[in-house]
Amino acid sequence: MNISSAEFVISNTDATKCPDSKLPEYAFIGRSNVGKSSLINMLTNRKNLAMTSSKPGKTLLINHFIINKEWHLVDLPGYGFAQAGKANRERLRKMIESYILMREQLTNLFVLIDSRHEAQPIDLEFMSWLGINGIPFSIVFTKADKLSTSSLNEKIAAYKNKLIETWEELPPVFVTSSEKNKGRDEVLNYIADINLQLKS
Ligand code: GTP
Ligand code: MG
Repeated sequence: MNISSAEFVISNTDATKCPDSKLPEYAFIGRSNVGKSSLINMLTNRKNLAMTSSKPGKTLLINHFIINKEWHLVDLPGYGFAQAGKANRERLRKMIESYILMREQLTNLFVLIDSRHEAQPIDLEFMSWLGINGIPFSIVFTKADKLSTSSLNEKIAAYKNKLIETWEELPPVFVTSSEKNKGRDEVLNYIADINLQLKS
């Protein structure tokens, strides 16, 4: 997919105030600092479309972008950010959950996992919650540039083995590096294919 336009639309704390539109929507979620906003910039080829930070807890709103005037891309806050404090964490959790459950346009949720880490309960529990609620998702292993090819492959194989313990079928899996532009075509082609199917 060629990205001919990528524009910011609106930021929200309230899922009911998201754009009133029937365009297919793709959102990015995962732990704070996993690289959601960086991935969005890499995919759209825009340096500062989504705001990034080396400190976790940068994105705190539901941010809509419109791509090629054809589909919405959504940057979400991270989950599980310890320093946010219990009340803030709970508020963010409710906001994210209501967005995911309410948003009928949500076509696919990309769940980002730092490829350096072992499977964490918070991510596995989140994916189980998606499964229970019938939300279609894919997994994106991020920051692939931080590992050698062999340890990257080992980590991903181990993660898939962990998922197979509870899931009958694995979701689509992507491996990306926002530093090295890795995985860009794969993710964008996946979105383009779904958009095409939705049109037919
Ligand atoms: P929150 O909005 O706080 O939830 O974080 P986020 O998931 O949006 O992460 P963000 O994109 O802001 O990136 C967090 C940090 O990771 C930044 O310092 C990025 O430069 C770095 N980072 C993100 N993606 C990559 C990557 O592919 N490779 C490397 N080496 N660093 C990355
Ligand atoms: Mg962010």
